[in-house]
Amino acid sequence: MIRVLAIETSCDETAVAVVENGTKVVSNVISSQIDLHKKFGGVVPEIASRMHTEQMNLCIRQALDEMTLDDIDVIGVTYGPGLVGALLVGVMAAKAIAFAKNIPLVGVNHIKGHIAANYIEHPQLKPPFLCLVVSGGHTHLVNVKDYTEYEIVGRTKDDAVGEAYDKVARTLGLKYPGGPKIDELAKVGDKNSIDFPRAMLDGGYDFSFSGVKSSVLNYVNGCNMKQQPLNAANVAASFQQAVVDVLTYKTINYATANNIKNIALAGGVACNSGLRQALTAATTAAGINLYYPQPLYCTDNAVMIGVAAYYEYLAGSRADMHLNAVANLAM
Ligand code: KG4
Ligand code: ZN
Repeated sequence: MIRVLAIETSCDETAVAVVENGTKVVSNVISSQIDLHKKFGGVVPEIASRMHTEQMNLCIRQALDEMTLDDIDVIGVTYGPGLVGALLVGVMAAKAIAFAKNIPLVGVNHIKGHIAANYIEHPQLKPPFLCLVVSGGHTHLVNVKDYTEYEIVGRTKDDAVGEAYDKVARTLGLKYPGGPKIDELAKVGDKNSIDFPRAMLDGGYDFSFSGVKSSVLNYVNGCNMKQQPLNAANVAASFQQAVVDVLTYKTINYATANNIKNIALAGGVACNSGLRQALTAATTAAGINLYYPQPLYCTDNAVMIGVAAYYEYLAGSRADMHLNAVANLAM
């Protein structure tokens, strides 16, 4: 049995978990800073780092619960991509424990962690499969060839989907993080009321969301200038539909063109009910299996890092005391 203590501090959650054999969740501690960042309309990096420093030891102690560090076989830690100061807190804590207790250390890529979140509740899901990663900072279509082998087949050329959601939400006066609020509001709006653009980029597999975002901002500003009433629910629903149409179309197209029978979703926006519904319908029609983690494992958490670290460890990955935070770490 391999028991991983996993640490995740790439953005605004201080998260620590203990995971056995990449499947059994022993503990899952998440200390969220959302309330602190809310009044600034987004994550303030300096505040995030300070809060991680304050919360780190408490979270580790809570995640270990009845256990001690002697019961841990591997330390897994996110070392990128993310906010460099925030990442450093987790990396330093992980290195200190690994050094003091002589426990193997594994550095984990945050995006690979998001993908690995799918293994927690779906033991039947095994590579190869296609994964649509949609988070606050990333939008990738990834060919997951093996547990530690990935090929990016499409990526955003500008904004990430979550970023577009958060900006549109802000324009509508909704508080950070706006994604879940747009999702709720969209349920009571008419998704066909406003025709926002869908950037198909000549049918390739890359994405672009800055156009639809600007189009929403222009629409809202236009209403305000002309003193016309703004139906926020219709804006939310129409924006969401434009985004979901593109994500669904490209993902299904890639899968059918490459005879892929399993698709997974990952990242915070994988919580989105419109995206889940559209992809469920499209995959069912195409005879493809669809997997996604429960919301708790879609947004940032350390369980996913524990699962990814387990597979990296099995593949022989070991970090040493030179492990550093890498803000723009590639996949
Ligand atoms: O994966 P995540 O927790 O952090 C990053 O690695 O970026 O993703 C956070 C993003 C935020 O932009 C948030 O607004 C978005 O995920 N999000 C959603 C929903 N829940 C979270 N976006 C749309 N619909 C949701 N239900
Ligand atoms: Zn994330």
